[in-house]
Amino acid sequence: MLQEIKRLHFVSHGDDRGKLIALESLSEQVPFDIKRIYYIFDTTPGTIRGKHAHVKLKQVLICVSGYCVIRCDLGNGKAIDYLLNRPDQGLLLEGLVWHDMLQFSKDAVLLVLASDHYDESDYIRDYDTFLKEVARGK
Ligand code: TYD
Repeated sequence: MLQEIKRLHFVSHGDDRGKLIALESLSEQVPFDIKRIYYIFDTTPGTIRGKHAHVKLKQVLICVSGYCVIRCDLGNGKAIDYLLNRPDQGLLLEGLVWHDMLQFSKDAVLLVLASDHYDESDYIRDYDTFLKEVARGK
């Protein structure tokens, strides 16, 4: 069973006007066809979002403004915090990864590129069910 958490570094095209990052569905940039984009902003201080895993969905998370933390758990009792605080940095989540999104700065805009359309049946929102699915996949 594939469970992947990978930091991505994007090439920034900079000149005296500023910077530009272009992302395409290419293996070295976004390694899936992008079917959906959503973004999280104006987050209420102290909020924890996410608290779920996906069955099939692949996502790349990019904090294009400000910062936030993505807490990832592969079901092995060891959650790892990934700070996203640069627009040239992404986090790829693939397979069964329980993730929380927290510690949003006031100006945080978390952009998410997703491999599929919104489908509630792809969500695992119960932590015990998540652990069972991880165990089942081993
Ligand atoms: P929710 O799953 O609670 O967001 P998060 O995972 O960040 O905590 O989604 C909030 C609302 O937005 C919920 O009513 C579902 C809706 N939504 C969509 O319609 N499309 C989407 O692509 C996403 C991610 C959410």
